[in-house]
Amino acid sequence: STAPLIDTLGRQISYLRLSVTDRCDLRCTYCMPERMQFLPRAEVLTLEELYDLSRGFMERGVTKIRLTGGEPLVRRDVMTLVERLGRHVGSELDELTLTTNATQLADYAQGLADAGIKRVNVSLDTLEPATFAKLTRRDVLPKVLAGIDAAQQAGLRVKFNTVALKGINDREIPRLVAWAHKRGCDITLIETMPLGEVDEDRIDHYLPLTVVQDDLDARWQLVPSVYRTGGPARYYDVAETGGRIGLITPLTNNFCASCNRVRVTTTGQLYPCLGGSEKVDLRAAMRSEGPNGRLSAALDEAMRIKPERHHFRIDEAGAKPAQPRHMSMTGG
Ligand code: GTP
Ligand code: 5AD
Ligand code: SF4
Repeated sequence: STAPLIDTLGRQISYLRLSVTDRCDLRCTYCMPERMQFLPRAEVLTLEELYDLSRGFMERGVTKIRLTGGEPLVRRDVMTLVERLGRHVGSELDELTLTTNATQLADYAQGLADAGIKRVNVSLDTLEPATFAKLTRRDVLPKVLAGIDAAQQAGLRVKFNTVALKGINDREIPRLVAWAHKRGCDITLIETMPLGEVDEDRIDHYLPLTVVQDDLDARWQLVPSVYRTGGPARYYDVAETGGRIGLITPLTNNFCASCNRVRVTTTGQLYPCLGGSEKVDLRAAMRSEGPNGRLSAALDEAMRIKPERHHFRIDEAGAKPAQPRHMSMTGG
């Protein structure tokens, strides 16, 4: 079938978030415990399988693929996948991109740009070395900053992702915004979501973006923007800086009615919603009969079970996760 992927609520899926590894070289406290149990390597799809799977999605009208993780750049030989997918940019794909913590970007930026990637999202929650070391449990802020520089030098557009965390980076957010805009970059702020067991209580650091927005409004003039990426952020233009601020508000302002995406784990499990337990085993489908087996039928099944919305709740932003899966498995 080459029919577009449309769910029971009429939402067309054009955006695939593909996790290429659940591993990461950082241990952000809101994302993972220090002793994170990663998937056994034998469970993980090969790069060949990840490519075949992506092709299956492209045949069904997916025009945007984002590689996620974990940290996508810690997967060995990931560039072979990036290069193969990059050949579809300009035909089936409007955009191939990735979400990265930038620790390896200094080595990869040029290769990514050469492969057809135009834009990357970099996770960066703080510019204070001590806060960075505490939050990520790894003391590598200089490496991250070098990665960001390299990306911009290679001509990649960079967007920053900042999880808003009470008592950790809340007072620093205006400075992060100003720093991003000065570099010519947009920045999106994200509410912490209750995904996977971590060592601390997320509710202690939960910060509703309504509060942050009041702070930003006091400093700058935020004007709702017409800018859209096809992701969950609502953007504002900041007249004073010429940059944009995006808000990703799963808890204070649900955006599911316009959902256009699904995510696939590194073991080939398709989750039609980040905040749901519904899933379809694409690995089994692909391996069932011949190349790409029953992949297309499995994608139809995903459209039948995609839930209307997530059920993350503010009172579940605490230790007990609404979703036992970690973000690193589904890549957001
Ligand atoms: P753009 O293409 O730049 O818009 O990126 P994006 O926002 O689609 O992707 P990114 O990987 O930068 O994700 C930013 C944040 O949005 C992460 O915290 C994701 O977990 C979150 N996110 C992305 N898609 C969804 C979604 O469908 N539901 C929820 N609840 N969060 C999402
Ligand atoms: N809640 C919100 N955002 C999260 N991220 C990781 N874990 C969580 C969570 N529990 C963010 C990362 C990255 C993006 C893909 O998701 O910081 O920027
Ligand atoms: Fe879509 Fe689920 Fe995300 Fe809502 S939470 S936007 S339904 S994936």
